[in-house]
Amino acid sequence: MGVQFTKRAISTYSILNTKKKIIVTGGLGYIGSHTVVELIESGYEIVIADNLSNSDLDVLDKINEVSTGDKPKFEALDLTDAEKTFSFFQQHKNAKGVINFAALKAVGESVQKPILYYKNNLSILLNIIENMERFEMNNLIFSSSATVYGLPEHLPVNESSSSKRPTSPYGNTKKIGEEIIEDFAFNNSAFKSISLRYFNPIGAHPSGKLGERPNGIPNNLMPFITQTVSGKRKELKVFGNDYNTPDGTAIRDYLHVVDLAKAHVLALERLLANKNDTNYEVFNLGTGIGYSVLDVIKSFEKTTKKKVNYSFVDRRVGDVPILYTDPSKARDVLNWKPKYTIDDMTRSSWNFQKSEEI
Ligand code: NAD
Ligand code: UFG
Repeated sequence: MGVQFTKRAISTYSILNTKKKIIVTGGLGYIGSHTVVELIESGYEIVIADNLSNSDLDVLDKINEVSTGDKPKFEALDLTDAEKTFSFFQQHKNAKGVINFAALKAVGESVQKPILYYKNNLSILLNIIENMERFEMNNLIFSSSATVYGLPEHLPVNESSSSKRPTSPYGNTKKIGEEIIEDFAFNNSAFKSISLRYFNPIGAHPSGKLGERPNGIPNNLMPFITQTVSGKRKELKVFGNDYNTPDGTAIRDYLHVVDLAKAHVLALERLLANKNDTNYEVFNLGTGIGYSVLDVIKSFEKTTKKKVNYSFVDRRVGDVPILYTDPSKARDVLNWKPKYTIDDMTRSSWNFQKSEEI
């Protein structure tokens, strides 16, 4: 005989079992997929919208393999399409908030195709905010970037450091995106938003199943290293060894993507619990430790016992010599404490690359 539930028991069960629904746009991408896993583990119901322009549907299976909670829903959606985005939001109007990862992000390509970048990244954001207003969905987390600091006057940079016009159209979509949100929040007291300014996310999920999968030739250091060692690329070109740094190569604040993903959960919970101090807030996300390009190569060689084939070439146009954050605001206010080391980052990046080639 099956278990009999009374009507009352069913309704109590469904109340207890009510999970907060969160929309994650760009949720099949590198940072989005790791964040979806952390959100599921924290008990949220997730709906992903992504047009798969820089991700694959098999990431959804990997998310399901590595997470223990409910499977996320997925909709293939181009968020620049206003009508389809409206129907999507209408369908999920009971969502409590949105985390927006969806954007094009290749710095070099954005210099060649600025209009594509402004159109894509800003239309996505405008469509999202418009629907959030329409459906009174009041909590937005936005993926911003340390690129908004341009060439910093002081190091480390903190959230009060002046934000400048970034050196690429891509970076400018982040600066303008932040300004759009701030302007909207200024006039809408119920609306709350946090912009998270990421420094240099690298690394991969400990399972080896999720990681960074750039289309074509990687622009960023870590995937270029892993693809060079795997034999997909001949040699890593280190851009500049004449910077005013201890070993002459540029310094960045690398952070593990799983630590970064956890910061999104903390930021979301801050908004959902109305713990925000103002209705638009900004946090830098980095460890506060700067590593040079050669430090990253050395860590990679140590953790993987693999040699990285590299040579020095001229500096890359637009690169700043040194960039790292003062991590205290995220630590003190969000209670975010990144736990992974540079060695964890390089080791996990290689584990992911290896699993991709099996
Ligand atoms: P990603 O390319 O892996 O993920 C972005 C996702 O957005 C992809 O899955 C892509 O298919 C989707 N997307 C793009 N345009 C879309 C559209 N019109 N409609 C629907 N989906 C669309 O990038 P990521 O590294 O995971 O970055 C996530 C966010 O963080 C981006 O906004 C990026 O600009 C920002 N960011 C990334 C870094 C970094 O170093 N990775 C640093 C700072 C900020
Ligand atoms: N680098 C190389 N060779 C390469 C690739 C990179 O030497 O083939 C060097 C760069 O010159 C830089 C460092 O490695 O000194 C890191 O470069 P990345 O391209 O990995 O990262 P960036 O710091 O240039 O930019 C990244 C993201 C941007 C984001 C920015 C914020 O790509 O989206 O961090 O700081 F805006």
